[in-house]
Amino acid sequence: MEKRITLKIAKIVDETRDIKTFTFNHSLGAKPGQFIMLTDFEGGEKPFSISDCSKNEFSITVKRIGDFTTRLFQKCVGDYVSIRGAYGSSFFVSNKKVLLVGGGYAVPTFNFLAKVLLETGADITLINGACTRAEHVFDNSFKNLNINVINTTDDGTLGEAGTAVEIAQKIIAQGKFDFVYASGPELMMKALQNVIGDLEYEFLFERYMKCAVGICGSCTMDPSGIRLCVEGPVLSKRKVEKLTEFGKYHRDASGKRIKF
Ligand SMILES: Cc1cc2nc3c(=O)[nH]c(=O)nc-3n(C[C@H](O)[C@H](O)[C@H](O)COP(=O)(O)OP(=O)(O)OC[C@H]3O[C@@H](n4cnc5c(N)ncnc54)[C@H](O)[C@@H]3O)c2cc1C
Ligand code: FES
Repeated sequence: MEKRITLKIAKIVDETRDIKTFTFNHSLGAKPGQFIMLTDFEGGEKPFSISDCSKNEFSITVKRIGDFTTRLFQKCVGDYVSIRGAYGSSFFVSNKKVLLVGGGYAVPTFNFLAKVLLETGADITLINGACTRAEHVFDNSFKNLNINVINTTDDGTLGEAGTAVEIAQKIIAQGKFDFVYASGPELMMKALQNVIGDLEYEFLFERYMKCAVGICGSCTMDPSGIRLCVEGPVLSKRKVEKLTEFGKYHRDASGKRIKF
């Protein structure tokens, strides 16, 4: 297991009422798609994707959901948390014409990915989807990257009206993409898989995680028992196609199956 380190929160940005970005001055050396395990010393340890990573700092972007993330939201700049990682697989870095399809709090990981893809000269189109304007994130960050961004909201309060997948279906039919990346709710990725045709893709999955180093088995996916914390969280098309639980169920802390 990698060494645990204690870090001071260097910066906090309120992205929406329920989403905040926490930045730390630390050289993490992560790759896009990887995650860290974070604890606040008060019980529990949770996985979070890396939304930005440079030589001397990195960020995570967190949605307030339950007890743990509610406690995290009470932290201030200068407070301490403890992390380990970065863990897991990372996104393939294409230098071609790529489509990034993101939804909700899972979109910010594409900020980090897009920066790395730009370095290789990739031609990037990003669909940044959310249910509604108040939940839409990272608009300015993506504008600053100078990539082709299509904002969507299910209710039409920002950008195009419709789901990220509906927009993806339209532009996949029009344009020639070489590779598709997705990060978002699992049902969004399942719907995307149904409209993606023959294109190569990688999806970022979330499952309940405890050890994050492949020992406890909490994050395995049927039928092969692939460990999402080691072989994932980014899975290739070949691996995704073999999953029988994709879009159907996940497991809680006790291992009980929960339907989506
Ligand atoms: C690889 C990976 C990357 C993630 N990246 C982000 C991110 O960038 N931003 C973000 O806001 N959230 C991310 N999550 C989800 C985040 O870990 C959970 O939302 C968080 O643990 C919720 O904790 P809670 O106590 O506030 O809520 P809880 O009340 O404990 O749970 C709320 C929901 O989160 C799920 N959950 C709880 N604990 C875990 C866990 N340890 N692993 C996976 N799911 C869990 C539960 O199944 C439940 O559906 C990621 C999860 C994984 C596996
Ligand atoms: S979280 Fe323990 S094996 Fe993945």
